[in-house]
Amino acid sequence: MLKAIAFEGKTIALREAKSGDEEMVNAFFDRMGGESRAVFNRGEYNRKGLLKFCQKGDATRKYWLLVDGNEMLGYVFFLDWNMKIPTLGVAVRDDLRGRRLGRSLCEAAIEKAKQSRKGGIMLTTHPANARAQTLYESLGFRCFGIARNCVELFYILNFKDETK
Ligand SMILES: CC(C)(COP(=O)(O)OP(=O)(O)OC[C@H]1O[C@@H](n2cnc3c(N)ncnc32)[C@H](O)[C@@H]1OP(=O)(O)O)[C@@H](O)C(=O)NCCC(=O)NCCS
Repeated sequence: MLKAIAFEGKTIALREAKSGDEEMVNAFFDRMGGESRAVFNRGEYNRKGLLKFCQKGDATRKYWLLVDGNEMLGYVFFLDWNMKIPTLGVAVRDDLRGRRLGRSLCEAAIEKAKQSRKGGIMLTTHPANARAQTLYESLGFRCFGIARNCVELFYILNFKDETK
């Protein structure tokens, strides 16, 4: 469990993805519009990753879903959770963008990584994804340019920087 999220007067749990969540996960990705798909789910990469986790689990990954009733409002995850610097990913439902859910999901994940004594967090994001870049930079992530062999921008949040 991650820290619950306050949204529209409710407190919504952020719980680990599990077997049985596949239908909800598919509904979340099915309603994703072209812009979000282009920057977040090219080749269905993130949908496949989450579905595989629901079905088989994976000790090197963590996925937390923000679920209200039977609906998935968003999710946040770490790849390479077994490494000192895991890789973060986040998405919220298109019609809920810009209402600070993305920020709350990232903050909960950052807190978890700190509690778990990670050294920091890395991520990549599409150069056209201004919304995500503004969010990451406001959370303290620094951009190190284009990731090697990749078209995406590479960001790191170094927890040591924050204690200086
Ligand atoms: C990127 C994403 C996770 C951000 O979540 P969100 O809930 O929409 O964003 P928030 O409301 O938390 O906004 C965070 C910051 O982004 C900035 N922001 C919001 N809308 C913006 C826009 N249209 N353009 C630029 N910056 C914007 C604001 O500065 C905001 O800071 P504030 O909280 O001080 O106002 C979400 O839009 C999303 O899921 N997009 C599709 C999937 C995706 O791109 N995931 C990230 C891949 S790396």
